[in-house]
Amino acid sequence: MSGATSTNQMLYIGLMSGTSLDAIDVIAVAFSPALRIAGTLEHPFPDRLRHQLEALIEHADHVSLSDVGRLDRELANTYADAVSALLSETGIRPDEVAAIGCHGQTVWHQPDDDAGFTMQLGNGAALAALTGIPVVNDFRNADIALGGQGAPLVPAFHQAVFADPTINRVIVNIGGIANVTLMPAAGQVTGYDTGPGNTLLDRWCAQHLGKPYDDDGTWAASGETDDALLETLLTDNYFAMDPPKSTGREYFNQEWLQRYLNSVDEERQPADVQATLAELTAVTVSRAVQNSAADSEVYLCGGGARNADLLQRLSRHLAPLPVATTGTLGIEPDWVEAAAFAWLARARLHSEPGNIPSVTGASRPAVLGALHAP
Ligand SMILES: Nc1ncnc2c1ncn2[C@@H]1O[C@H](COP(=O)(O)OP(=O)(O)OP(=O)(O)O)[C@@H](O)[C@H]1O
Ligand SMILES: [Mg+2]
Repeated sequence: MSGATSTNQMLYIGLMSGTSLDAIDVIAVAFSPALRIAGTLEHPFPDRLRHQLEALIEHADHVSLSDVGRLDRELANTYADAVSALLSETGIRPDEVAAIGCHGQTVWHQPDDDAGFTMQLGNGAALAALTGIPVVNDFRNADIALGGQGAPLVPAFHQAVFADPTINRVIVNIGGIANVTLMPAAGQVTGYDTGPGNTLLDRWCAQHLGKPYDDDGTWAASGETDDALLETLLTDNYFAMDPPKSTGREYFNQEWLQRYLNSVDEERQPADVQATLAELTAVTVSRAVQNSAADSEVYLCGGGARNADLLQRLSRHLAPLPVATTGTLGIEPDWVEAAAFAWLARARLHSEPGNIPSVTGASRPAVLGALHAP
């Protein structure tokens, strides 16, 4: 360790690649004496790797173990490139970094049955060896082993950095899947996955416009919400389930949507379907927020916070609650999740719990993550 960097000012790197497969988010953060962001970088997925991961996620029943193993390793190589790019851009040395918190790429998430598990790829041993930095990964399985959902895990971080003992706050993360963290001024923090965030919007947009996402939601804004279709989508069991609950692309995907589209007789204009999917995200998130105190402040993060159409819909449903982004609280919306996994790596190194049982349903708080020494 360098003389300039005392232990409590050490940096932690957070590496996040979420369900959208849009990019790898990398952040370097110090948590003491105060939260300080030392660098951020959005690292692209090599096209080939992204296509292989898409194929693995969408056709999970038809992949071989050698494919899984190879992708696990190739992802680690790409994560190492991302870390190395951040270090060279910021001038941060590996010995200033206490650990990398690597979420990994979720390829399956099935916490609920007797043999519940979740699987994130991105070989931790290889990443540690390639970067020379300790790596913490596999954050979710310890919570599932204790009967929890293994998700969402970001609420503990939200509580640590965004909670206020005098104000009711709600954090809404709109990634591929959307999740909420309800933080009453007094009382227990709760939170759960509300359902689709961007994932159905992205897939429908790719299918009809050949673009990875509906920039600013302009296509959705050009359509009309189809109330009958919206009502049908809202009958899905997931939305009625009580929390704790979590979900992923193995549930909310193109087949899910197609099943409901087939169940309604009429043909829909693609733009109207897009508008309806945007409304589905807005309605399901709003219903979750409405379980919080009536005077709650709402803060958005995740890529969906950049979607102007979605923001408008959310603000309309949430009115009169004030809606802002987490930027107001000191972390720009694109970096909250990556910062959370840096924070969870720090918690692992300090043997502090990373889950909140009232969120995940685990039987107790647990130290999360597997540690790989370089
Ligand atoms: N300008 C924009 N207009 C519309 N949508 C956007 C815009 N920028 C980003 N997005 C949406 O945000 C998504 C990426 O969000 P994010 O990185 O938070 O999700 P993620 O990687 O799936 O993370 P999570 O782990 O939370 O699921 C994109 O796939 C896209 O749908
Ligand atoms: Mg992302």
